[in-house]
Amino acid sequence: MKILAINGSPRKSGHTVELLETMMASARKQGAQMCLIHLADYHIEHCRGCYTCIKASCPQQDDMLRLLTDIQNYQADALVYGAPVFNFNLPGLLINFWNRKTGMSGYFRAKEEGRMDEWLKQNRAWKVGAGIAQAGHSGGQKTALKHINFSLLGECDRVLMGVSVHTRRWDKALEDADRLGKKLVEELEKNKGPYPLWQMPFIYKRLTCFEFPRS
Ligand SMILES: Cc1cc2nc3c(=O)[nH]c(=O)nc-3n(C[C@H](O)[C@H](O)[C@H](O)COP(=O)(O)O)c2cc1C
Repeated sequence: MKILAINGSPRKSGHTVELLETMMASARKQGAQMCLIHLADYHIEHCRGCYTCIKASCPQQDDMLRLLTDIQNYQADALVYGAPVFNFNLPGLLINFWNRKTGMSGYFRAKEEGRMDEWLKQNRAWKVGAGIAQAGHSGGQKTALKHINFSLLGECDRVLMGVSVHTRRWDKALEDADRLGKKLVEELEKNKGPYPLWQMPFIYKRLTCFEFPRS
């Protein structure tokens, strides 16, 4: 069983990484193999909103394709995002990655062509997902975690309520990260498959701050 951790902090040896490494050590003890990717190791341009990706490939010349290939090649069963809170939200690095990944995964093309069910099937590449959000000043960690969960619901069959912590209570933060490592392996072992469709609105309500558009 393989778990991929993605560090969304621009710092490669800060609080986020300490929590991710704690989660990884605990999952490893339960028999999982782990891989840690730092987004900061890749040059990621922001999405320009040109929608070229509807008709052709993304025109940006950066490391996104290499990054997506590295992620895919690892063939993980579970995905964990870790991030610090920046301005009561997530760092631009992680948001830029998601924005670009959305276009490059064919989302806008599938939407245009009415193939969203097919896109979701292809894009939900992981069985289980979870987030770790940590704040160091004025807070915002719960909101940040909910943003991570929102992305994970498009990428994973199941999403665990992850870890939202503040550096002020670092002992608790490390305990929560340790517990998450165990929970991830347990959930993978259960192999439950995707949520039934009727449960999705409840799942979104519990895990995210997303509001469904009303007609
Ligand atoms: C640009 C910037 C914005 C930040 N905004 C917040 C914030 O809104 N709330 C908060 O609690 N901490 C905020 N912080 C503090 C970081 O969340 C904190 O230092 C965190 O532990 C850094 O994680 P890292 O060591 O993994 O990079 C901010 C830090 C930076 C650099």
